[in-house]
Amino acid sequence: MSQVRVTRRYRFSASHRLHSPVLDDARNREVYGKCNNPHGHGHDYTLDVSMRGELDAATGRLVPLPQLDALVESTVLKDLRWRNLNVDVEEFAAIVPTTENLARVIAARLASAWRVAFAGRDVQFEKLRIYETKNNIFECVNPLRETAGESSMGESELQEVQ
Ligand code: NI
Repeated sequence: MSQVRVTRRYRFSASHRLHSPVLDDARNREVYGKCNNPHGHGHDYTLDVSMRGELDAATGRLVPLPQLDALVESTVLKDLRWRNLNVDVEEFAAIVPTTENLARVIAARLASAWRVAFAGRDVQFEKLRIYETKNNIFECVNPLRETAGESSMGESELQEVQ
């Protein structure tokens, strides 16, 4: 069967301030511009989650969308929505909450929760995109995907040879 890719879109609002403790104030302003304003600012983020795999023959879907929504809500959105990312989200205690880093944090959370939520299904979390503004778009592939994909492909090839 050919593989199908499905992308589902979510939205959330959060605030951040971009300021690196290893740079001086002038360099911070230079690197981050307005995003270095001392008291932070908000964004209305759009998050696209893409998955790929084999359709469930019984449902004609990759996964039930309510189940996907529940996973994204519990692993990502409930911790980020209406929050100050610098203060309220533990991953950003040590890293600057740029949207590059936000993409990595969300991808890591989804990657580990995905395997449990969709165990036994041939559907992978493939990648995500975050739109911070209409001009700033960030993408991150599932950090666990390549390893898992290669090993399962290797196994199935071996089985065919045998
Ligand atoms: Ni910003």
